[in-house]
Amino acid sequence: MIIKEVRSRIIEDSRGQDTIAVCVNGGAEASSPNGKSTGEYETKSYYKSLNFCVGFLNNFRDKIEINKFDDLVKLEKAICKKLGLGNAREFGANSLYTFQSAVLKALAHEKKKELFEIIGTNRRMPFPVGNVVGGGLHSSAIKIHPNFQEFLVIPKSKRFSDNLKIMNYIYDGVKNILQNHGVNDEGAWLVSSTDEEVFDALNKAKVIAEKKFRVDIEIGIDAATSTLFKNRKYNYTDKKLNQSEQVKFVSELILNYDLSYVEDPFQERDFKNFSKLQKALGKKCLIVGDDLTATQYNRVVGAIRTKSINAMIIKPNQNGSLLELKRIFDLCRKHGVKTVLSHRSGETLDSGLADYAVGFGADYIKCGVATRWREVKLMRLAKIEKKI
Ligand code: PGA
Ligand code: ZN
Repeated sequence: MIIKEVRSRIIEDSRGQDTIAVCVNGGAEASSPNGKSTGEYETKSYYKSLNFCVGFLNNFRDKIEINKFDDLVKLEKAICKKLGLGNAREFGANSLYTFQSAVLKALAHEKKKELFEIIGTNRRMPFPVGNVVGGGLHSSAIKIHPNFQEFLVIPKSKRFSDNLKIMNYIYDGVKNILQNHGVNDEGAWLVSSTDEEVFDALNKAKVIAEKKFRVDIEIGIDAATSTLFKNRKYNYTDKKLNQSEQVKFVSELILNYDLSYVEDPFQERDFKNFSKLQKALGKKCLIVGDDLTATQYNRVVGAIRTKSINAMIIKPNQNGSLLELKRIFDLCRKHGVKTVLSHRSGETLDSGLADYAVGFGADYIKCGVATRWREVKLMRLAKIEKKI
């Protein structure tokens, strides 16, 4: 396929914030989400500005030939040459990811293939990690809310479509246990409960669902503690903890509430305490890096070397290059680190994330439970499951 026509425009994400959309050769449009609890080490979203990147893409006239995933390297070289960049990621994580994604969608269309078939040879469905109750920065719409950003459920049926049913069942169940004030940025329930009350509610809903569906269901959190960490302390609504108190606190949470998944339990520079926790409880619980690793290859290498994590979040628009994303997936697989492909809190209606999860062979996908921006990805996965 030759890249003949590139069109780009500005659209709004689920929060009404501007983001980039790109269409290549009249194929399906790709777009990029925006994060809110963004990590310090993420790639910048745009080179110069969103407007600059849209203009650059609308004037992209290079007739590059792309026949397979790895040919994206030609695209990266062309961008570097035109803008005088050392690395294509300097073009911006949102702009590069969306451009590459639009190229792959156009290629899939031309080859009469599915997007996931263009990406890789993996044919495995990920387990969904569902954000049921929200807190922290994503729930700042209400004054009193839980400290942790996401309270998650992970149903472990072999069939993705069953997991979808179970996730929705728990989501509805929790609605009847906790009083809610609508939904937050990611479609999770907005509640004015304490963290402990949310854990209890999730556990209750989990026990009922396990009986009904006869499937193991795991519980977890995205603690997103970089947003709680100020003046060398973790600032909770009812306490301030220093670094060693935080290790103890998180360890107790894992044991008391039988957590199987804890994301960002420490702030984004703290490889040391990640490593301590992983050594103590890594057999029982996934110790997941998000802001810590920020989908940057070098930080993943560091996290593996220091044995800081046994799982990590991968967000395409934290990095920008789908080629580097593939290298990160391969590195994680080699070292037994579980991969969690993730949406952002400000999402678009692009369902490509579902195809990337299957194509790259992600172990898990975190893309919410409810609201249409999240549902398009889950529905796409259900459709893919029927095809493979
Ligand atoms: P973000 O949060 O998309 O707002 O960065 C998601 C997360 O921390 O997992
Ligand atoms: Zn996170």
